[in-house]
Amino acid sequence: AGIDDVTVTRNSAPARTRVGIGRRTLRTDRWWLQPLLTTLGLAAFVGYATVRSFMRTGYYDAENNYLTPFYSPCLSDSCVPGSAHFGTPIGELPAFIPLAFLSLPFLLGFRLTCYYYRKAYYRSIWFSPPACAVTEPHAKYTGETRLPLIVQNAHRYFFYVAFVIALINTWDAIVAFGGERGIGFGLGNLILVINVVLLWAYTVSCHSCRHVTGGRLKHFSANPVRYWIWTQVSRLNVRHMQFAWITLGTLALTDLYVWLVSTGTITDLRFIN
Ligand code: FES
Repeated sequence: AGIDDVTVTRNSAPARTRVGIGRRTLRTDRWWLQPLLTTLGLAAFVGYATVRSFMRTGYYDAENNYLTPFYSPCLSDSCVPGSAHFGTPIGELPAFIPLAFLSLPFLLGFRLTCYYYRKAYYRSIWFSPPACAVTEPHAKYTGETRLPLIVQNAHRYFFYVAFVIALINTWDAIVAFGGERGIGFGLGNLILVINVVLLWAYTVSCHSCRHVTGGRLKHFSANPVRYWIWTQVSRLNVRHMQFAWITLGTLALTDLYVWLVSTGTITDLRFIN
């Protein structure tokens, strides 16, 4: 920016304005590719997850006790027998309500307010800005200080609930080692376990988790255990973006596998029993 790009305010502090280059960007590379891929990836997952959450078929395989994470926890009388690993305290649900209606809003909120996903959709969908050195179409920026984006600050509360849901998914993966055919181990078990391990990696690598474990400590030396936990969480935290994408893939693949096995489209590959 040259001297023409700087205006001088009354107290003489320089306030920078945008460079008047008359074009949206001077970049000549394919800067639009990453936002496009991000949008397509997110749209594909949201579309798949929405359809599957409302289908109410192919979500539980009784023979192997495989329950897809999209229907966990299943707590109503509408759940097929065996799929309610935590009982059925809720009566019948009308068809337009997903069977996992208690967990899905929190999981959605957890991902929507995630620091990484915010970056992804602010750039790719809201174009704010779409890429470095590419002008955004919005005239003003008010940040996350007022409605609706101030809701983003609730992320830590979504984290607490997501932590509990990860425990529930863990239980689903454990009980899947014993279905109607007895104790056993198949490809479905492997998929459920890998999925839950990666869900844990995504959940504990959350920035809020990092803050919970060590964020308020004034003296690490006086809290060696919390310091150690914070160090491990920080290690995972640098890969949070990768876990965010990997878990979208593993969630969809896990659901797809349970869907195909439970509908008899494919047979579960058994290693033991
Ligand atoms: Fe991404 Fe918390 S889940 S920052």
